[in-house]
Amino acid sequence: MWPCVVSSFSRRLVASLGVCGRRKCCGTAAFMPEAPAFEGVRSRSELRDFSVSDSERFWAAVGNQRLSWISPFHTVQDCDLTQGRIKWFEGGKLNVSVNCLDRHVHTSPDRVALIWERDEQGSEVKYTYRELLEMTCRLGNVLRRRGVKRGDCVTIYMPTCPLAVAAMLACARIGAAHNVVFAGFSADALAERIRDAESNTVITVNQGVRGGKFTELKKTVDEAVQSCPSVQQVLVAMRTDTPVVMTARDVAMEEEMLKEDVVCEPAVMNSEDVLFLLYTSGSTGKPKGIVHTQAGYLLYAALTHRYVFSYHDGDVFGCVADIGWITGHSYTVYGPLANGGTTVLFESTPIYPDPGRYWNTVERLKINQFYGAPTAIRLLLKYGDHWVTKYDRSTLKTLGSVGEPINTEAWEWYHRVVGDGRCPVVDTWWQTETGGICIAPRPSEPDAEIVPGMAMRPFFGIKPVLMDTEGKVLTSNNTSGALCMAQPWPGMARTIRNNHQRFIETYYQPYPGYFFTGDGAYRSAQGYYQITGRLDDVINVSGHRIGTAEIEDNQCSAVAESAVIGFSHDIKGEGVYAFVVLKKNIDIKEDDLSRQLNKMVSKKIAKYACPDVIQLANRLPKTRSGKIMRRVLRKVVERDLDGLGDLSTLDDPTAVQEIVEGHNKNS
Ligand code: WT7
Repeated sequence: MWPCVVSSFSRRLVASLGVCGRRKCCGTAAFMPEAPAFEGVRSRSELRDFSVSDSERFWAAVGNQRLSWISPFHTVQDCDLTQGRIKWFEGGKLNVSVNCLDRHVHTSPDRVALIWERDEQGSEVKYTYRELLEMTCRLGNVLRRRGVKRGDCVTIYMPTCPLAVAAMLACARIGAAHNVVFAGFSADALAERIRDAESNTVITVNQGVRGGKFTELKKTVDEAVQSCPSVQQVLVAMRTDTPVVMTARDVAMEEEMLKEDVVCEPAVMNSEDVLFLLYTSGSTGKPKGIVHTQAGYLLYAALTHRYVFSYHDGDVFGCVADIGWITGHSYTVYGPLANGGTTVLFESTPIYPDPGRYWNTVERLKINQFYGAPTAIRLLLKYGDHWVTKYDRSTLKTLGSVGEPINTEAWEWYHRVVGDGRCPVVDTWWQTETGGICIAPRPSEPDAEIVPGMAMRPFFGIKPVLMDTEGKVLTSNNTSGALCMAQPWPGMARTIRNNHQRFIETYYQPYPGYFFTGDGAYRSAQGYYQITGRLDDVINVSGHRIGTAEIEDNQCSAVAESAVIGFSHDIKGEGVYAFVVLKKNIDIKEDDLSRQLNKMVSKKIAKYACPDVIQLANRLPKTRSGKIMRRVLRKVVERDLDGLGDLSTLDDPTAVQEIVEGHNKNS
């Protein structure tokens, strides 16, 4: 289907940069020395205790050791969780792109930074640190020349590819913030994020290619920017040979890059200047622009990447998440590059061209750490072991899981079949808001016991607590509660763009003095943590976070009101279950309604948010004050009628009976 192995996009760029694209990784420099020494600390587990009890000394030492500073920080931290104030390494000046590129170019310019695992299997392209620095500088110069200033925000709507990484780093180079929007989001969702971020520049590609299918990303941007008055220019890179209509606002990105110098003066940034925004879902309809800053975020991404996965110099790190999510930011881009590592950019899907794609990639690229989502593991195990065992996976050392709970069956299969029973499986818990991994099996003890399906141990500097319903800290083990963090750490979010009040209300008011994660957790008798799921109206569909209110907010002409909940789904983890009340006198076939609703949700949000099940209802169970009782809906769908709980506040008890009958009919 592809006339050439390397598309014009990469060929032209690679040629323009004078690159063969297939150099071997030299992997020599000792860029990852062990953790700094502290008096009286003799083991990694003692170091963990120290990192919590004397977190300021710990982070000061690690910050000095791991980052390259233009000028040193004078204050390690200035945090007050009761106020939602978080500041790290103040006084310090640095440039994130210098930390991710220049310092490695000085020691080992020909080490491979990126391996782009293109959608077309077997056509990977490698980029050395020198090449990635050159690309970043050229693009940084394009942005500067075209008026992008320090403090501006650039929206990036691209698939996972080297130019997307260069775009992120080019922003960091010139002091602009980036706002990567997952390329699966619709024009409406993109527009909402561009408007909130007030971006003047958008970077995209002509077309995306994923699973052998083409997506018209440039067209989607054209549609989105119609309602975005802030946008002055759209930079368009060519992922395929298909030309697109270019207007006066559009700029041919690679052509402009070729005109630029390969040197670009890095901006001198303060530790607390904004590095990026990343929108994520909360319990209201409006997505939150989570803000991360320079030094603390980078340090935390680098340290967790090094210790959670036992990443060593020369290893090939394969995180298959899209760069549009925080996992892609922290563990495809910033963590590995800050550590001078070799990182894989996976552009395809787990089943393209067949269900052996991941393991074919592991064999071909000699991946040492593989980091993926349970939803993909659950999907692949259904296809059978032979798709895995036909490939050589002997390079694998660590297997990571992220984004949602990993059930025992999937964990066992990942461990036994993919890892041949010899690779530790690390179930990593974290969030867009935490910047990096907070709880994972082996942050500090490389040989410690691992319990299947448990995130287990807090990372260096992380102090989790469980809260009861009255807001008291639960001190005993073998107990469940709301998961909070009692201490700040450098990687945590600083605010919500344009809405610091919402930031405080969401994360700092529920349990004053603590950061509230929104998740529930269980602490075992041994003191290990297991995540039990969200406590708010956020659901997790195939590892993608979505607010039920975002789905409900869609206006459909036939619908009077709706209530959306998550339900247990074999492959997706959670599926979307929608209860829909039609307007009076509407006569519509269920198939037509389902088609209409899917169309609307795909247009407003993205395909993954479409309902899996629609149940028509005459009315929804509500309290007398008019609040929908989702708890009741969840219990009905779980078929736990004994667990319906207190129904005394219900406005009309027959509503529940109707919902139960409707559900029986539906399933
Ligand atoms: C939510 C955060 C972390 C990067 C990808 C998702 C859920 C995340 C786990 C895990 C159980 C998990 C939580 C969390 N989650 N990791 N290992 N076990 N649940 O980032 O989109 O910000 O979503 O994902 O509910 O709050 P996100």
